[in-house]
Amino acid sequence: MPKHIFIDKKISPFNRIIQVSSDKSLSIRTILLASQAVGISKISNILESEDVLNALKIIKKLGIYYKKKNNFYEIHGFGLNGFNPKNNLTINAGNSGTLGRLILSLLIKTEKKVKLIGDKSLSKRDFSRVTKPLKLFGAKIKSNKNLLPVIIQGTSFIRPINYVELLGSAQIKTACCLAALNAPGKTQIRAKKSRNHTELLFKYLKIPIKVKPSGEFDLIEIEGLKQFNAFKYSIPGDISSSSFFIVLTLLSKNSKLIIKNVNVNESRIGIIKILNMMNCKIIFKNKKIYKGEKIADIIVKSSKILNPINCPASLNSSAIDELLLIFLVAGTKVKGISKFNQLGELNKKESPRLNIAIKFLKMIGIKVLRNKDNIKIYGNPKIELNGKYKMKNFLKDHRIFMMSCVAALTLGGSWKINDKDSINTSFPKFLNILRNLGAKIN
Ligand code: S3P
Repeated sequence: MPKHIFIDKKISPFNRIIQVSSDKSLSIRTILLASQAVGISKISNILESEDVLNALKIIKKLGIYYKKKNNFYEIHGFGLNGFNPKNNLTINAGNSGTLGRLILSLLIKTEKKVKLIGDKSLSKRDFSRVTKPLKLFGAKIKSNKNLLPVIIQGTSFIRPINYVELLGSAQIKTACCLAALNAPGKTQIRAKKSRNHTELLFKYLKIPIKVKPSGEFDLIEIEGLKQFNAFKYSIPGDISSSSFFIVLTLLSKNSKLIIKNVNVNESRIGIIKILNMMNCKIIFKNKKIYKGEKIADIIVKSSKILNPINCPASLNSSAIDELLLIFLVAGTKVKGISKFNQLGELNKKESPRLNIAIKFLKMIGIKVLRNKDNIKIYGNPKIELNGKYKMKNFLKDHRIFMMSCVAALTLGGSWKINDKDSINTSFPKFLNILRNLGAKIN
């Protein structure tokens, strides 16, 4: 099977209703929490992508039984700190920063040594952002200069911590929250706002948590050592996966799309807010609340020429996985100069996405100026491509691959895009859905 695809035709107008894959953040979080609950949890519509399947493989290696039945997974938890690994066990988080960082936080009380490894991309990513607070809880941790492999050895002498999270990273915040489950007394986290699925799950599971908003921060207090019961959960659609189709529709002619049953939690819809600030009209319909999460259908139409934006950096965290797509819109649908600031975290992802986004925009002829972690994109809504474009993707970043497909299907030109297997980490059905919408992909 070739590892690349060819696209040399724009997608024809479409008017369709689709459903995207389930939310990855919630899939991983519910699996990890089920592994710590007392009894048998039932989670339906789990995203069956590599990152999530790796979460299941890891909890199994750590002694937790699970079974797939029809469209749900049963996970048999033994309660808090219920892992039972053999000594010097190796676990592999594959490509997933979220899984790698969160699983460490559940091992701070496990006295056997566990070694965490990952793929080439994950092995380039910093782990000190979570090992730092986890060491404060009491865990012994060794790493290869803050990179993988990380070896963790937990202890029964855990203490609660006070921690300040300044990056707006939900992974760091969640690692502290999950570790706090095993700490006696109160853990306090002052965290720059980021996706809040973990806090909502804690509330739903009646784990003692208080969240007090304070400007750009949340003050979180968790009371540890409280067992919680097994639960049922049905994972809604993923806004990050939906975003490729939202932007595909905006950049296509005479098209309309309804995306059903998507998690539109406030802390995840930075892309919608930013695009609407540029004068898009993306609408939510059939809104409902499910276990604290906001769910809705998203309605989007082809867009006219959009306005430039001076994007408030406070929206970065809620759009962190969608910024590549937002830059594509700013470059190809906006008349004028858009500004995005404080983008440092974007270079800490599966690949250095800020560097790659700039290269990509320049490759298709869009002017971009960079000053440290700030960029200005000179939009050209008249852009029409007819050259040949090759997207190499040296760290096989799934979001770079999918963003390139959206560009190829809407801007013209003849494209060879490498590393199609990368979509298996987050959105294995991506190419199938595109083809069902009429995209010609070879
Ligand atoms: C995630 C948080 C984000 C995001 C990642 C998933 C999560 O990372 O990029 O894809 O599920 O918590 P950071 O929290 O490090 O920004």
